Amino acid sequence: MQEWLLEFEQIHYTYPGAQQSALNGLTLRIPAHKRCALIGQNGCGKTTLFLLANGLYKPNKGSVYWQGKSLKYDRNSLMKLRQKVGLIFQDPEQQLVASTVEEDISYGLCNLGLPEVEIQQRVEQALVEFGLTELAQRPVHHLSLGQKKRVSIADVMVLRPELLLLDEPTAYLDKLHTRNLMATLKKIHAAGTTILMATHDLDLVYRWADWIFVMDKGRLVLEGKPQDVFTQRDILEELQLGVPLIYEMLFADGVAEEGPVLERLRQRILNLFRYF
Ligand SMILES: Nc1ncnc2c1ncn2[C@@H]1O[C@H](COP(=O)(O)OP(=O)(O)OP(=O)(O)O)[C@@H](O)[C@H]1O
Ligand SMILES: [Mg+2]
Repeated sequence: MQEWLLEFEQIHYTYPGAQQSALNGLTLRIPAHKRCALIGQNGCGKTTLFLLANGLYKPNKGSVYWQGKSLKYDRNSLMKLRQKVGLIFQDPEQQLVASTVEEDISYGLCNLGLPEVEIQQRVEQALVEFGLTELAQRPVHHLSLGQKKRVSIADVMVLRPELLLLDEPTAYLDKLHTRNLMATLKKIHAAGTTILMATHDLDLVYRWADWIFVMDKGRLVLEGKPQDVFTQRDILEELQLGVPLIYEMLFADGVAEEGPVLERLRQRILNLFRYF
């Protein structure tokens, strides 16, 4: 039987003072142990959904459930929830809290009250994993945007959440660090973490995700496995999302033919879009 980790049931959410609702009867269930991608146009409600997922916002109507239980919004319950649901913000500036990189990464671990030795060990590991060793003592406000993004990702990953929510994690990252991030996500997923990533990079979605959610105007309009979602070309084009370039090249009319030359070509195309 399918196990849902986090469920949004008929959620309505309007920002204070806004004319229109950001989430408009959204029902979406995150299946445990999957690599999920969330796609949709600018302003369709992806970030808002994330902010409701770890209780930063409360729905005006509808409920959010974590492992079948309705979220509670008292301080204690929220603290517990946020240990399990890690959110990496779209804008790294919103995530960083301490003065140096090392302090920033250890901040959440200190709050958990872990032993000093374990904190040190986990921070060291994160610094290496995210290529931040040389920046460890640097003030966070002196970093480039891409470096800040890497620190903000390390801040959350170091807490080892059960569900990891990443809002546009590859924005500002160069090719090398995108690949490093994807390799880390592969490891984290293999160790049992469920992942939901909002992104505009459809090629990355095609190569990485095993479940896709498509949102429009604050609602879920389509979900499924990549091969099922991307065959719904009409819907995706109507939403101005289109299909991944890699999908277009591999499965466009006429490319479905067989033969050694085509096979080599297919392999080359797949290698061009290698993210990990
Ligand atoms: N703080 C806010 N106050 C008022 N309205 C907001 C606020 N933040 C977002 N909105 C509105 O809520 C809607 C959903 O925004 P949201 O940021 O969730 O979209 P998104 O899917 O994450 O977009 P993007 O792809 O650009 O990141 C938009 O119409 C946006 O203008
Ligand atoms: Mg957003």
